[in-house]
Amino acid sequence: MSRLVIVSNRIPGKSPAAGGLAVALKKTLSARDGFWFGWSGAFAESPEKKARFETVDGLQIGAIDLTRSDHQSYYAGFSNSILWPAFHLRLDLTDIQSHWYEGYRGVNAQFADALIPHLKRDDVIWVHDYHLIPLATELRRRNIRNRIGFYLHIPFPTPDALNAIPHHEDLLNDLMAYDLVGLQAQRDVAAFNEFIAHEEMVRAGGGTPFHFDTGSTIIKAFPIGSDPDAFAKLAVSPNAQKMYKKVERAMNGRSMLLGVDRLDYSKGLPQRIQSYEKLLENNANLRRAVHMIQIAPPSRDTIKEYQIISDELDTAVGRVTGRFAEPDWLPITYVKRAYAQASLAGLYRLAKVGLVTPLRDGMNLVAHEYVGSQDPEDPGVLVLSRFAGAAEIFHDALLINPFDSDETAEAMRRAVTMPLDERKARWTSLMAAAREHNVDNWADSFLDALGDGGETRSTSD
Ligand code: G6P
Repeated sequence: MSRLVIVSNRIPGKSPAAGGLAVALKKTLSARDGFWFGWSGAFAESPEKKARFETVDGLQIGAIDLTRSDHQSYYAGFSNSILWPAFHLRLDLTDIQSHWYEGYRGVNAQFADALIPHLKRDDVIWVHDYHLIPLATELRRRNIRNRIGFYLHIPFPTPDALNAIPHHEDLLNDLMAYDLVGLQAQRDVAAFNEFIAHEEMVRAGGGTPFHFDTGSTIIKAFPIGSDPDAFAKLAVSPNAQKMYKKVERAMNGRSMLLGVDRLDYSKGLPQRIQSYEKLLENNANLRRAVHMIQIAPPSRDTIKEYQIISDELDTAVGRVTGRFAEPDWLPITYVKRAYAQASLAGLYRLAKVGLVTPLRDGMNLVAHEYVGSQDPEDPGVLVLSRFAGAAEIFHDALLINPFDSDETAEAMRRAVTMPLDERKARWTSLMAAAREHNVDNWADSFLDALGDGGETRSTSD
């Protein structure tokens, strides 16, 4: 089997925020000889072209430093102030500054330069996420003919949202420099096809010519997953138990509803708090019988929109607390910090309700981890947004529209009061789905579709 080279902006072991992606791929990489390549997390005074290699947890990791100004344009700028909001259909939150594009392409070129000396002819290269869309183009320009696959962890935008992104034609052509493009959900493949169909119609009607060759690239959905059986074990491990017992005591017989999300505007956190407020408003009998815990580690906090969502969440939590708290009962605990996976697994297991209610999400691995962590004899209920990729897999969750606080509050009520038989039946189906779509199957099916070793195309492509 050929060596595998994984490339992503974040490398494992450097930041807790790398979370899902790092956990998902470590296993696959250690099964095939190879290395992981990305940004070191550190800054350089002048642009670097040479990678440094080290072994972290038995994995070979290559990394480069970036200058602060390149990182600003590439990461905070083009990736997270244009691509991220637009791909999540938040055009109102985009901040389009034209010079960022140059920095974005420049860092991709720098990644290519630093990577090439370490590549072998037969390596299979797997590039991850929206920060690195142009990487295959940059590699092909430098005569790399290897098989290169790309996986997008976030949703693919609708045609209008894609059209709002500066240089989107270039980005689509960049995708065509890959042999395989993996998307999270059928919804995303449909959005991609819709864009192409739309552009072809415009062209047929005499509009601007659209130079786009979908010829040799396969576009397909590969829904990512977690390792639900590993979470089942982790959820009863000593560290998980410690958290479980501590919080169980604090709950004192109350039903706990739990949300765990990066503090991001795509996660629908103020809307979730508002729905919880409706639950308390409409069901006086539940008021002292429930408690919500929201864990939201800060993310990308140099970007203005992330500061705004953080303030909005503070306000929403303060509003519900002021309105419903009593001297001896608080409706909600809000924790703005990251926790180790074992502690989270313990909390997932204790939670009667898992709240995964993003406004739009590629997949959402918290949904998978929540399902994996449940006690089969007394499982909790997953309340899940229709707009998460996970909704295509978890049919037996309580599916909601996160913009509709009445519907979401009603799903929370149903979840809190659901009889054991129904909880078991739903969880059994969710666990089967989580197992079927586990992370090993995901990586295997992507890599099978990408194929093994050898040259795939001439560099004139
Ligand atoms: C999402 C993205 C990942 C990213 C993660 C954390 O899951 O798909 O590529 O690594 O968020 O965000 P950050 O900006 O801290 O890397």
